[in-house]
Amino acid sequence: MSGAVENSGRELTIRVLKFDPNSAVSKPHFKEYKLKEAHSMTIFIVLNMIREQYDSDLSFDFVCRAGICGSCGMMINGRPRLACRTLTKDFPDGIITLMPLPAFKLIKDLSVDTGNWFNGMSKRVESWIHAQEKSEEHMSQIEERVEPKVAQEVFELDRCIECGCCIASCGTKLMREDFVGAAGLNRVVRFMLDPHDERSDEDYYELVGDDNGVFGCMSLLACHDVCPKNLPLQSKIAYLRRKMANVK
Ligand code: SF4
Ligand code: SF4
Ligand code: FES
Repeated sequence: MSGAVENSGRELTIRVLKFDPNSAVSKPHFKEYKLKEAHSMTIFIVLNMIREQYDSDLSFDFVCRAGICGSCGMMINGRPRLACRTLTKDFPDGIITLMPLPAFKLIKDLSVDTGNWFNGMSKRVESWIHAQEKSEEHMSQIEERVEPKVAQEVFELDRCIECGCCIASCGTKLMREDFVGAAGLNRVVRFMLDPHDERSDEDYYELVGDDNGVFGCMSLLACHDVCPKNLPLQSKIAYLRRKMANVK
């Protein structure tokens, strides 16, 4: 990113929105912390330093620290990002504001409940292979050969880490509580492309052929811009829209 400042040892100002919705006395407020920037410092490292040195009560989520688990999504200067993959040097003025992802239930401070939302979405789009039971004489067909190109396409969409960044950036999701979001639309296309799944376009239409599905999408593509795994959300949402529009 242009304007990045590498290892300057400068002072960072970190503003964190703190709030505990389960406390009768807690009110949303920003708390400010000052700390010295280190080489290759990520927001994840910043948060751990704050928790160790200034505020043991600060809540945020992480598991892998490597952009794999999807736990550490948060609003960083107004944009949904992964804390463990965001470098402080990319903020030239050294002022960084952290807020929880909107659109998910707030647990506390920067910690939100993405798990239940993704669980509900997975059930809603029936996120599993739908295939007829094979009889014993057809056992050899259970693992039919899949063209490498097709397998690669499915794998590409399976890279979603359920971080919630696309959901937090989505204007439709803010207006429609039940909108399935880019992650949900991506999941549907993943199964459409998978030759193991025998569902028809009509079956998928039942799941996402309405305004809480693909027809609610405004195609402004914030989801595509913020996805930390660079999933091809733009082309896959367009593909799904074309498919569903052709269902009579
Ligand atoms: S393109 Fe559709 S799914 Fe993506 S952010 Fe916009 S409304 Fe949401
Ligand atoms: S599609 Fe991208 S932004 Fe959305 S949940 Fe999956 S990895 Fe995160
Ligand atoms: S901690 Fe796992 S993606 Fe950031």
